Amino acid sequence: MEELITKIKEYKKKRNAVILAHFYELPEIQDIADIVGDSLELSQRACDVKADVIVTCGVRFMAETAKILNPQKTVLLPVMEAGCPMADMVTPDDIRSLRREHPDAAVVTYVNSSAEVKAECDICCTSSNAVKVVESLSEKEIIFVPDQNLGNYVSRFISNKKFIFHNGYCPVHHCVTVEDVLRARAAHPEVPVLVHPECPPSVVDHADFAGSTAGIIQYAKNSASTDFIIGTEEGILHSLKKQNPDKHFHMLRDRFICANMKKITLESVLHSLERMEHRIELSDEIIQKASTSLARMLAVK
Ligand code: 13P
Ligand code: SF4
Repeated sequence: MEELITKIKEYKKKRNAVILAHFYELPEIQDIADIVGDSLELSQRACDVKADVIVTCGVRFMAETAKILNPQKTVLLPVMEAGCPMADMVTPDDIRSLRREHPDAAVVTYVNSSAEVKAECDICCTSSNAVKVVESLSEKEIIFVPDQNLGNYVSRFISNKKFIFHNGYCPVHHCVTVEDVLRARAAHPEVPVLVHPECPPSVVDHADFAGSTAGIIQYAKNSASTDFIIGTEEGILHSLKKQNPDKHFHMLRDRFICANMKKITLESVLHSLERMEHRIELSDEIIQKASTSLARMLAVK
């Protein structure tokens, strides 16, 4: 492993590259990354990258977001098959037909979506800023795609708008059940349950906190509690433990794993830098349209 890490560092210098990694990546990938974050932070930080090459250790929509925000740079995704099944659940045609049905509605697209879908929407959001994004809109009707669960979560905070949800979901979070929460609470009484808003509404109802991956880490840091039940992908444990060495984390359920996030390995990162692959290529038209939706999101404070 040490040899691989040394080679990655050498190539990173040679290529003038920066490595971005999501909290769900393998521990060794998070450790070699220059920036580890949730989707919002990765998008924000991708905007100020000075390097020539961005290696995205995450899933394809994250690499596409980095490319849309940095069209002049080379953006690499070490494993092209690292996709997000939820992102694949919505198409540009779905958005066009929803718009025809609801012509006065604003279309809000979770960043877990393709560049082509981002190009069709009015504004993007992440799980960190979704409530603020929707609040910032003057429209009274909101088409929220693709995550029905995040959409439901956002609608809890906003009473003066009508929501039209798409039926997408994250296969990793959607299968969490209330029984999982009750079982974890019985095993760890009095311990707060922290979940991602991609979990079903009934699970959010039974949790003490719902938030993005960065929100969950922040909650654990600020809380006086020493133990936490974690209801999101288990890769987050690495950053949780690193940032809170004296606290204890218990998974809400076994095998809480996004297989796509785990496709990126040290070997694939090295190959990616050596061979300069796989490059994210998007048409100028898609970049221009999708960047408008992302820029609108990033302007929401
Ligand atoms: P975060 O933006 O909370 O990191 O979520 C990304 C993701 O894919 C969750 O499944
Ligand atoms: Fe997509 Fe779910 Fe994996 Fe996140 S955890 S990348 S939403 S499949």
